Amino acid sequence: MALSRQQLEAHWMPFTGNRQFKDNPRLMVSAKGAYYTDTEGREIFDGLSGLWTCGAGHGREEITAAVSKQLEQLDYSPGFQYGHELSFELANKIVELTPSGLDHVFFTDSGSASVDTALKIARGYWCSLGQPRKTKFIGRIKGYHGVNYGGVGVGGIEFNRAMFGQTVDADHLSHTLLDENKFSKGLPESGAHLADELEEIVLRHGAENIAALIVEPLSGTAGVLPPPKAYLNRLREICNKHDILLIFDEVITGFGRMGAFTGADAFGVTPDLMTVAKQITNGTIPLGAVVLGAGIYDAFMDNGGSDYMVEFPHGYTYSAHPVACAAGIAALDILTNDKLVDSVRAMAPILESAVHTLGDHPYVTDIRNYGLAAGISLQHYRGEPMRRPFEVGLKCLEKGFYVRWGGDTLQLAPPFIVNETQINDLVAAVGESLQELA
Ligand SMILES: Cc1ncc(COP(=O)(O)O)c(C=O)c1O
Repeated sequence: MALSRQQLEAHWMPFTGNRQFKDNPRLMVSAKGAYYTDTEGREIFDGLSGLWTCGAGHGREEITAAVSKQLEQLDYSPGFQYGHELSFELANKIVELTPSGLDHVFFTDSGSASVDTALKIARGYWCSLGQPRKTKFIGRIKGYHGVNYGGVGVGGIEFNRAMFGQTVDADHLSHTLLDENKFSKGLPESGAHLADELEEIVLRHGAENIAALIVEPLSGTAGVLPPPKAYLNRLREICNKHDILLIFDEVITGFGRMGAFTGADAFGVTPDLMTVAKQITNGTIPLGAVVLGAGIYDAFMDNGGSDYMVEFPHGYTYSAHPVACAAGIAALDILTNDKLVDSVRAMAPILESAVHTLGDHPYVTDIRNYGLAAGISLQHYRGEPMRRPFEVGLKCLEKGFYVRWGGDTLQLAPPFIVNETQINDLVAAVGESLQELA
């Protein structure tokens, strides 16, 4: 069915140039493994695993079977004051795959909801400990923490904030994209000193007023910014020193992309709270979660009043939806049974060598990579930083490759099931596209 321009108007698409899209629709109809098929019947390689979601590849029969069975058995069950067994099974699996010390899971229905939930848990925690003034948040420039009110306020991508003002009380660390680190492979050498800015921010606002610091261990949306060596350790030390909770937003880095089950594991630093989403159901059904330590959970339980009382007045109609939990259990089983973290570790050096061959191509100003993620920064058109990546992305699509454009970057994050040839072909398509536009 070909949709008319008029029919396309009804849906206001998210994070999309609606006018351009509706003049030139890019519509997928099916997907299997690492490929989509579009309405023209063309195969398109999935160079971003959906939106960093589908690492195990599309159309996984184990997930389809689990979801179908669950829909037949229990399509919905109220998540408030009632439950179902799958959420507890999934919570235990998540606890097993995340660092020791993170023992409890609060389910949400997206990455953005997980971030806002984590921020509320942080404030509620201090409140329950009798420190209600610890309310301020610290984020980081270029950070992306979703689109809800808290996430936008702690986030640091200017374009995403400009329309909305400062939505919550937050200050920001500098970003870690340093000139001296350009074209680094893996973790950049320079930049651990940037963590010391947290000391200055604490001096400015007072530790007694700060609830939490939130950072992505590796920023994905800003264009794949791996943390400088020792940077996250330093943030951890300063948070410990001043009694500030450390939140890792692992919506992209959680469940395999870094060649470890979490970014915390990959980089050897454990936060107090961790947000996850995306890969948890392999992108099939919306689900997110906040994973946290016993100290925080117990503070709510110990200060929750009579035992019939709600300890944390928060939750979503679709928190721990039974169908999403069935998908999550099946997806995490695939991750462990198929040893996909090992596959990421095996393919990461291949992506690294391939993507860095683009360094001498037209317009390329920087390349970064870690695990199965790579970011390529492109020279700006005067006053239009986002235009060139958009043009390159469309050229790649003509060649049968989906790559993400965002800000002044292109982002590559192929599925964990990718092989060497597919990686080389993906990078070659980006290279040819850059040459053609020169
Ligand atoms: C680090 C991070 N946090 C939060 C989000 C928001 O997730 P969602 O789009 O599921 O709300 C994203 C999405 O890209 C993300 O990368």
